[in-house]
Amino acid sequence: MKIGIIGAGSIGATLAKLFARAGHHIAISNSRGPETLADLVGQLGSNVRATTVEDAAAFGEVVVEAIPFGRYKTLPVEPLAGKIVISAANYYPDRDGDIDLAGLAQTQLVANHLPQTRVVKAFNTIWFKHLADQGDISKPIEERRVIFLAGDDSEAKKLVSSLIEEIGFGAVDTGNLAGSQIQEPGAKIYNADITVRQAREALA
Ligand SMILES: NC(=O)c1ccc[n+]([C@@H]2O[C@H](COP(=O)([O-])OP(=O)(O)OC[C@H]3O[C@@H](n4cnc5c(N)ncnc54)[C@H](OP(=O)(O)O)[C@@H]3O)[C@@H](O)[C@H]2O)c1
Repeated sequence: MKIGIIGAGSIGATLAKLFARAGHHIAISNSRGPETLADLVGQLGSNVRATTVEDAAAFGEVVVEAIPFGRYKTLPVEPLAGKIVISAANYYPDRDGDIDLAGLAQTQLVANHLPQTRVVKAFNTIWFKHLADQGDISKPIEERRVIFLAGDDSEAKKLVSSLIEEIGFGAVDTGNLAGSQIQEPGAKIYNADITVRQAREALA
């Protein structure tokens, strides 16, 4: 599958590596331009290339956005129309500044900015080093480290769940975006280092 990645830091680069290893084709981008990503893509192999944000958005059948939450309004609307966007972003006021969520879940703001895009909140509840190390395709799904996801489109969530499983984790669906505050910083399951089985018990 063609996967675009916007944000090439801890999470974006880790996902690029894992998805490339699983056989996907990756176009990764940051705010400073593809020339600043030469070293990174050099380490990641021939199915990863550096590009612009607009091009990564246009390239991916699925596009990951892994940028600071406060920058979500810079995500390009037009090239992401019709796509599935995985949003890994978390709002940290100290980093992102004061943002009025107007009572909405954080990822609803991203989804409202991208009205023609199916947005799935995923990979936001796992520390990037655990993401790099804890995937294990040899384990049964129930015993794998959990990655939570939320979204309003069941087909999109199914596809994202299969990507999660391909890289050795287990997906647990927490519901729709309106309810996705249970995946946000400070929530019980945020950064919880637990298996799929334990996650289901925690949510029951
Ligand atoms: N770190 C974690 O373990 C972790 C876990 C789960 C979720 N998250 C969330 O995931 C997001 C990314 O976190 P991170 O730790 O990966 O951050 P990071 O290491 O600071 O990397 C951020 C990346 O986003 C790029 N970027 C910033 N503004 C951009 C813009 N407007 N357009 C395109 N690219 C832009 C940066 O590129 P430049 O350097 O060129 O600006 C950089 O490549 C955050 O919302 C964070 O809360 C992080």
